[in-house]
Amino acid sequence: MVNIFGGSKSGRLAGLEISTSSVKLVELSGDGGGYRVERFAVEAMPRGAVVDGNIADIEAVGGAIHRMARRIGCSRDVAVALPSSQVITKRILLAANLREFEMEAQAEAEAGQIIPFSLDEVNLDFQVLGPSAASSQDVDVLIAAARKDKVQNVVDAVEAGGLNAVIVDSESFAMESAFGLVSRKLFGRDKRWIGALVDIGASGTKVTFLQNGKQIYFREQQIGGNQLTQEIVNRYGLSQDEAEADKVSGQLPDGYEQEVLRPFCDLLAMEISRAMQFFFTSTNYDEVDRIVVSGGCAQLPGLIDAIRARTEKNDGSQVETVVANPFASMSLASGVRFNNLLAAAPSLMVACGLALRRFDA
Ligand SMILES: Nc1ncnc2c1ncn2[C@@H]1O[C@H](COP(=O)(O)OP(=O)(O)OP(=O)(O)O)[C@@H](O)[C@H]1O
Ligand SMILES: [Mg+2]
Repeated sequence: MVNIFGGSKSGRLAGLEISTSSVKLVELSGDGGGYRVERFAVEAMPRGAVVDGNIADIEAVGGAIHRMARRIGCSRDVAVALPSSQVITKRILLAANLREFEMEAQAEAEAGQIIPFSLDEVNLDFQVLGPSAASSQDVDVLIAAARKDKVQNVVDAVEAGGLNAVIVDSESFAMESAFGLVSRKLFGRDKRWIGALVDIGASGTKVTFLQNGKQIYFREQQIGGNQLTQEIVNRYGLSQDEAEADKVSGQLPDGYEQEVLRPFCDLLAMEISRAMQFFFTSTNYDEVDRIVVSGGCAQLPGLIDAIRARTEKNDGSQVETVVANPFASMSLASGVRFNNLLAAAPSLMVACGLALRRFDA
């Protein structure tokens, strides 16, 4: 059975992300106290197969997974994720001395309160996070639920690709895990600071605010790399595929940088700064200490400077802004090329977070 938090896994397990523009896979192994990247792959997704995070065409998604798996020969067992918007989560307090089946019953009762459809229609799971800070008698428990049909959809697509989904997680949990790797490497173990993880993909931008490694606010906007590709199509009369390729290689006519790329980066930066304003007005926080940019668009030349120019701390100093690399502290297996991994790293956050599920206690 597939749970939101995971079922049985034996040995090897890879993280597989199914997203708008591609399927992405990361497989890690343990290496001393750290990790080694065994293999990774990105395979283009046929246009229209995934729309707004929803799998619209199971066969097409399965085909992309199959091509990728055949090319790299990965573990058959994979952890996959549902878009955060399809997973309902809540933290609850339960008495620490409850037995497993009692916790299960209480978690179900709580879930019944927050889920807008019948419990028969959902996959439900819960995870004990640890002793509660509020009361020594209680534990913090995270409950998560997703509609069975959405879970089944992902499981079917993975199966159509010849792999086996043994864990179905939430994208936001996977992001949190990967952010943990990035922030430990960059910012040490001081956990008081507020981080913003800005993921700019093909179809959307997701901004997650975190403290102590946990999400405290989330905002999603529908602006992403597809918009820039479309502008290139319109302006230079190229096909979608040509525009996409030329955008990534940077081989576009003079004037592109000034007239198209810069305004687009500035628009993204403005959206990020707006997301921050929403965060400040909706919470008690009034400052962000660090910004980590992930997703394929993190590679856009000039984007990081554009973000720096539109975000500042209350004392006028710059917010430290970097491109995400969840693999920075990892060793690489001999088949993994450093430069290829570095280029793909910002877009592999979710796949990497899922790959870490192999090491769950
Ligand atoms: N080197 C690059 N330069 C510019 N843009 C790039 C580069 N590499 C990838 N991109 C763009 O990044 C986007 C894909 O990023 P990513 O893989 O994070 O998206 P996704 O996860 O498939 O999409 P979404 O999160 O919206 O579902 C595409 O628009 C692609 O054109
Ligand atoms: Mg994405």
